[in-house]
Amino acid sequence: MLALVKTIRFETDDVISIELNPLGASPLPPFGAGDHIDLKLPNGLTKSYSLMNNPTESGRYVLGILKDPQSRGGSKWLHEQLRVGMHLEISAPSNNFPLQENAKHTLLIAGGIGVTPIIAMAHRLKALKASFEIIYAAKSKRSAPFQEAISSFGVPVHWHFDDEASGPPDLHPLIQERVQKAACSRDECQLYACGPEPMLNAFLNACKDLSLKNANIERFKPVEVLASAQIKRAYTVVLKKSNKTIEVTPEMSLLQALRHHDIEVDTSCEEGVCGACETRVLSGEPEHLDCVLSDQEREKNTVMMVCVSGCKSERLELDL
Ligand code: FES
Repeated sequence: MLALVKTIRFETDDVISIELNPLGASPLPPFGAGDHIDLKLPNGLTKSYSLMNNPTESGRYVLGILKDPQSRGGSKWLHEQLRVGMHLEISAPSNNFPLQENAKHTLLIAGGIGVTPIIAMAHRLKALKASFEIIYAAKSKRSAPFQEAISSFGVPVHWHFDDEASGPPDLHPLIQERVQKAACSRDECQLYACGPEPMLNAFLNACKDLSLKNANIERFKPVEVLASAQIKRAYTVVLKKSNKTIEVTPEMSLLQALRHHDIEVDTSCEEGVCGACETRVLSGEPEHLDCVLSDQEREKNTVMMVCVSGCKSERLELDL
């Protein structure tokens, strides 16, 4: 669908916010906290961004976009070429970072531009009158976008700026203290983190050490080690719906093999991040190389992201 670029605002030196409105009479599809949409850019790239406004707002989507110095043309194009009044092709909202709405207490942890889905979650929790608090870390106060929005929720916020504290936050004591203060059991507290990879790893380690079961993360980029991994083995893929059997050679990815045989698969990021290519696994053992599935989902082996993942067994049967 097409959306109208209503406003573009500089939030910090390298973060802009973009407000998208419906084009024509039909409203934009509703969205939930933690949802993202894909932007299909005129240069051929598709990029996913979290929706950060209040999910009760039906007439608009708001995104926060950091200009990534390593950009291949996604955030760079949006910062340099996007203009108010343009029409952008967007996907319907989808969610890899769902909010559990009935937690006794929720801890939201944002790192830099990772604050965007956290803001939408905070809107929702506030509307539910739920108990929650926020930890917001950034390299510096100047570089931290949407501080006003975070303050506006009227809940406790722990601010951390690396340049003032001589380094990133130590999440272990910060989380421990807040969970203890909330007086909830290890199962009753839900924790969400979105931010740079080192912060997410520190978050997951802290939750593991503290035996906190409900740790949820959203990554922007594939884990480097996973993204660079290549499946170097041959295997057979049986495609149930298409009634085809194809061979994947060590030189090709599963997605390449599927496309070579004209099998249509929905994709977006093609980096194992967005979840668009999730496919049901009927038998066989996938080699999961995505950042979408949780450890528990990986163990079940009932779905896989075919854009980056491969196969550990000799044969894989997919619902394609
Ligand atoms: S296309 Fe995004 S995870 Fe596969």
